[in-house]
Amino acid sequence: MSAGNGKLIIRLDNVRRIYKVGVERIHALDGISLRLYENEYVAVMGQSGSGKSTLMNVLGCLDRASSGYYELDGQDTTRLSDAELARVRNERIGFVFQSFELLGQLTALRNVEIPLIYSRDGWLSRRRRAKKALERVGLGGRIKHRPNQLSGGEKQRVAIARALVCDPSILLADEPTGNLDSKTSESILELFDQLHREGQTIVMVTHEEHVAKHTKRIIRLEDGHICSDLAAEDDIIGRGDGEGKML
Ligand SMILES: Nc1ncnc2c1ncn2[C@@H]1O[C@H](COP(=O)(O)OP(=O)(O)OP(=O)(O)O)[C@@H](O)[C@H]1O
Ligand SMILES: [Mg+2]
Repeated sequence: MSAGNGKLIIRLDNVRRIYKVGVERIHALDGISLRLYENEYVAVMGQSGSGKSTLMNVLGCLDRASSGYYELDGQDTTRLSDAELARVRNERIGFVFQSFELLGQLTALRNVEIPLIYSRDGWLSRRRRAKKALERVGLGGRIKHRPNQLSGGEKQRVAIARALVCDPSILLADEPTGNLDSKTSESILELFDQLHREGQTIVMVTHEEHVAKHTKRIIRLEDGHICSDLAAEDDIIGRGDGEGKML
């Protein structure tokens, strides 16, 4: 499905990711074709082991497809060297993990500054941009705190600020509320909703239907392939009132 008039951000054609473990070959992604457009707000769902994290890692240029085509912002990523791919990841991708992945010895501000190390900005400009990103996620009052001085929700806000600081084409989040209680989860999801309204393109993995309900499009994976890809209002599996239309 397509979002209609938005700019194409991501194009995957028949992407496979095969893990080799001993003599076994695991088809974690088994022929994924997908288009994502600017300002889309997408949930990726599916059972444990269905390939959600593998898909996010390929989309986020943390991993490469074994075969198939992946274009990001009009650029064929499959032809890039590792160094070029790392640069694309730094400049165009914001990644948020379930476990926050902050550096414990650094303040919130310094954590958010990390991705800017590769930018041409001087330190003052980097500091200003990091502070602005923290203000954007509602943490302007916590910039000097270290992770162990922050709540779980605040840590995830720092991680989101770090993901946004380079103004990425796409924000990828792998179970971003998986380590948070329900009230804190809801406030993080409201932040994602706000970022979507501000124009950010977002793809989020979740196990939970109530989390997916925040998004506009729900992609379901099964054994490494897409079994359903529908506008959230048409995704009747999530409403629990019958069988969803399968592709
Ligand atoms: N590094 C790896 N080496 C070998 N097999 C892997 C590796 N990472 C994942 N797999 C396998 O690939 C398949 C997809 O894994 P993936 O982590 O993408 O699933 P997932 O949908 O994110 O699951 P979960 O909901 O539990 O996080 C699984 O069968 C998994 O065992
Ligand atoms: Mg996973």
